[in-house]
Amino acid sequence: MIKKAVEKALNNQLNAELYSSYLYLSMSSWFSSQNLNGFANWMRVQAQEELMHAIKFYDYLIQRDGRVLLVAVDAPPTGWDSPEAVFEHTYQHEQKVTELINDLVDLSISEKDHATHMVLQWFVDEQVEEESSASDILGKVKMLKESKSGIYMLDRELSQRVFTPPAAQEPATAP
Ligand code: FEO
Repeated sequence: MIKKAVEKALNNQLNAELYSSYLYLSMSSWFSSQNLNGFANWMRVQAQEELMHAIKFYDYLIQRDGRVLLVAVDAPPTGWDSPEAVFEHTYQHEQKVTELINDLVDLSISEKDHATHMVLQWFVDEQVEEESSASDILGKVKMLKESKSGIYMLDRELSQRVFTPPAAQEPATAP
């Protein structure tokens, strides 16, 4: 049975992941409105990844006999000034999420919840990737500035991203 303090914090994180999904889907729709369909694809995949993060917390809470309590998800912004502004926002958002995950790790240690601590290690690793990919694209967009042909090339590159669902569980082998 999970401790109440940990259960509450994991529910908060589940909501934060749903907000991230909502935020990136909003960014995706903004890119679509700008006819930058590769950028839109990248953000749509990002939104799917965030939903997967939320479901990981959902499944873990259920597994630990915790209670999942879904609450309202804040409305995300709907418009940005430029692709650079979107990726600046993305990079800052991911740094905030990293702080949230680090706070959860601290809580799992103070509550001596070793199982939660283990589960959170996946998210610690994931945040390194999340910050790195946002920072990488932000750097490229900054470099391209007003270069329309450069943005077009990057748009093509970002159109290649595909969502990879978490590996399916190994089927049970016959005795
Ligand atoms: Fe769920 Fe982008 O971190």
